[in-house]
Amino acid sequence: MNNEKKAAAIKSLEYIEHDCVLGVGTGSTVNYLISELHQVKHKIKLITSSSEASTALLEEQGFTTDDLSSVGTPDLYIDGADEITKNFHMIKGGGGALTREKIIAHASNQFICIVDNSKLVDVLGSFPLPIEVIPMAKSMVSREIAILGGQAELRHGFTTDNGNLILDVHNLKIIDPPLLEKKINNLPGVVTNGIFALRSADVIIIGTGDQTETIEND
Ligand code: 5RP
Repeated sequence: MNNEKKAAAIKSLEYIEHDCVLGVGTGSTVNYLISELHQVKHKIKLITSSSEASTALLEEQGFTTDDLSSVGTPDLYIDGADEITKNFHMIKGGGGALTREKIIAHASNQFICIVDNSKLVDVLGSFPLPIEVIPMAKSMVSREIAILGGQAELRHGFTTDNGNLILDVHNLKIIDPPLLEKKINNLPGVVTNGIFALRSADVIIIGTGDQTETIEND
């Protein structure tokens, strides 16, 4: 699995062109990207990341990161996913960085999702859906989620980079990802949820063994 993550990460370097304004995501697959990013350092004009963890790793590699507001529109956002379908819809947020990830993905011209083969699914929802909530809303949002058929579980001992909590929702079968994404985001107290369908990926790079398969959304 790790060699698949690494292979997908290395393949994504081919999409980085000269003067690139780059958004970098979060997670173990992206960590492989960060460790190989020195190969294309000369092509990167500005760089922003979706978490304090990725920023720290980038700085260890000699990159200076800027916040999204000062870099403007990233040409490219490269990030992993917990699940992805061939419709380019994803569940993200296993690492708890979903809100910043969604903001950078939305701001970027192109979103490349790098995954190992296990992440490819027919229907989203086996992986518990993360929802970032304002702390005082956790019980109310959990009750609303139960009405939608899911069981929300508080991620104990975890606070997001934005100072909020994560509910992980089990047993949701996500048949219509854009509709459910909107419905959950409409609940007061929800910062955002981990369905990425309204802004889906443009390219999926899947590691399969030591090879990769690339699917582009035309
Ligand atoms: C973090 C994420 C990650 O992209 C997702 O959890 C995949 O992580 P990994 O590459 O470690 O499998 O959304 O919030």
